[in-house]
Amino acid sequence: MAASAGVTERGERWNHNIHYHRLILAAVPPRCQRVLDVGCGEGMLARQLAHLATHVVGIDRDAPSIDLARRQDPGGTIDFICGDFLTYPLAPAAFTMITSVAALHHMDARVALRRMDQLLAPGGTLAIVGLARSRLPADLLWEAAAVAANLGYRLTRTCWEQPSPTMWPPPHTYTDIRALARHALPGVCYRRHLLWRYSLVWVKPAPLTPPDPGEGAAKSPDTGGLRRTVLYRAIRSQRPCWATPRTCQRPASRVTRNCMAGLGRSMQA
Ligand SMILES: C[S@@+](CC[C@H](N)C(=O)[O-])C[C@H]1O[C@@H](n2cnc3c(N)ncnc32)[C@H](O)[C@@H]1O
Repeated sequence: MAASAGVTERGERWNHNIHYHRLILAAVPPRCQRVLDVGCGEGMLARQLAHLATHVVGIDRDAPSIDLARRQDPGGTIDFICGDFLTYPLAPAAFTMITSVAALHHMDARVALRRMDQLLAPGGTLAIVGLARSRLPADLLWEAAAVAANLGYRLTRTCWEQPSPTMWPPPHTYTDIRALARHALPGVCYRRHLLWRYSLVWVKPAPLTPPDPGEGAAKSPDTGGLRRTVLYRAIRSQRPCWATPRTCQRPASRVTRNCMAGLGRSMQA
């Protein structure tokens, strides 16, 4: 079965990027329509995403990587584009999800995040796994833990060398990337991971339509437009984080969650 083929591929191959594919796959929203994988390389993540989304597009500027990706997708279910993500003509707001693994540090990160935002539909999800530099000696403990964990993994797994272009060292430190991402993507969920990677998960806010002030005039004041307007304003005044409260930069407050639930109930009424 197709789905198990992706799982098998993930099981057989291992490296520091593949190790964190599960974070990306877990962020795929239900009934996901169109996914773009930026810097897709030979297409492993795109093939996994194809089991979870209606349509997957992979883009990479390295022609040999795209050739290899196309050869591994003989059915042509994935659109592999050879081009520069920063300049290739893609329609704004065209994607329900954008993913990227180990590619952001090859580009101007600020420009790339802004472009990802433009290409993402409102309510769409951005999930990135990236590389950054440690700051020494401040990050010495992280480095020591990473070396120990890596040794443990290497004893039980064979490392698969991915064939696409790599770049070292990355231009940004973890601290730089966190600040940059928080500025570009307000409410982003940034996490630093053990095996020399960080992740960013962000859901692009979808504009809430303000309720018509006259709406509900014929209904009781409790369930009508006034209540909806108050709830709408309360929600707009918050900046919810869309990821799990444990990991996010700014957890959705109880007020926001209650307002969301209240608005949902009043919409159904
Ligand atoms: C280290 S590889 C990672 C490949 C794959 N995502 C993986 O995890 O195995 C980085 C990839 O990003 C691609 N890349 C870098 N800058 C790019 C750009 N501006 N547009 C498209 N692809 C880019 C490179 O060609 C390379 O294939």
